Amino acid sequence: MQFTIEVGRYNPDGIYAENAKPGAPYPPPWQQAPPRRYQTYTVELPEYAVVLDALIAIREYQDESLAVRCACRSAICGSCAMWINGHANLACKSKLTEFTKDGKTRVETPPSMPVIRDLVWDMKPFWEQHNKVKPWLVGKPLADPSQEYRADNSRMEELIQEVSCISCGCCLMDCESYAVNPEFLGPHALAKAFRYAGDPRDAETRERLGDYSKPGGVWDCTHCYECVAQCPKGVAPLEQILKLRRMAVDSGFTNNAGTRHADAFADSVKHSGRLNELTLMPRSTGLFNVVGQLKTLPSAFNMARAGKLPPLLHKSIPGVKRIKAIFERVGGRFK
Ligand code: SF4
Ligand code: SF4
Ligand code: FES
Repeated sequence: MQFTIEVGRYNPDGIYAENAKPGAPYPPPWQQAPPRRYQTYTVELPEYAVVLDALIAIREYQDESLAVRCACRSAICGSCAMWINGHANLACKSKLTEFTKDGKTRVETPPSMPVIRDLVWDMKPFWEQHNKVKPWLVGKPLADPSQEYRADNSRMEELIQEVSCISCGCCLMDCESYAVNPEFLGPHALAKAFRYAGDPRDAETRERLGDYSKPGGVWDCTHCYECVAQCPKGVAPLEQILKLRRMAVDSGFTNNAGTRHADAFADSVKHSGRLNELTLMPRSTGLFNVVGQLKTLPSAFNMARAGKLPPLLHKSIPGVKRIKAIFERVGGRFK
């Protein structure tokens, strides 16, 4: 079968080479977005071929200057992650027949990541975020050091999902929050964070939860679900982030914008059956946080200018009693 591949090419001379000098400040991803050009190739491959087969065929028989990163060709090493038709995927796992749209397949690096060359993106930001969550176990001391710590099977089973991570970066590539805020730890790092915070043998769970509750942590996820959709190993980082949030709140880390936002949201729905957007931002910021409140004023003005300010009078929906009954039934933190 004949396949048409459109490849985003990038020559490293210029922005990246300059900033890669030792000691040079590492620019945020949006400043790294390189000028790129698209080059189209045609390859003849069997119907079962994957995107990586096409890229290797191009590099071997048509254009040896094409840079591609790969190793296992079996969806295990994670090195061939790239954007395919605008979303992160493993090139060795993506069948060409499934990824051909309008007669072609477009491959490139994602715009939120720095590029080394062509399809090879720089994993430095990925590993930097990964290292920030202290991705190792701090073992609890044992009364008898000659004995081993016996972990409960059911507790360890909860961690299996995250242990499948192959560090490919697909989730970070498509994370909407990370794309606009490179301080966000990101889905892979937070999934890793749960792997250790949720481990019954870890001695620093509380400290970890405090750290993950800070700005850039669990509350900066916007629930876009991209990490769940794009992860090739079923790690579902968002699910691990939600577990960390629950653990953090249960441990008393509630003095942060994320928890206040969740509380304000739930309170509003409980009392009127819908969201009171007028009080949501002030309550999330903290009513006594004068500086924070002042910082929200530009957003309020912008909303007013765009005619998007919510009505001053917040009315309850008909049948709000049934909503309240649901809250009573669910109980817990929002009762
Ligand atoms: S759900 Fe959260 S962590 Fe996952 S991609 Fe979206 S913003 Fe990022
Ligand atoms: S969580 Fe999934 S998408 Fe993210 S790095 Fe691990 S395997 Fe890749
Ligand atoms: S080449 Fe190893 S995951 Fe694709």
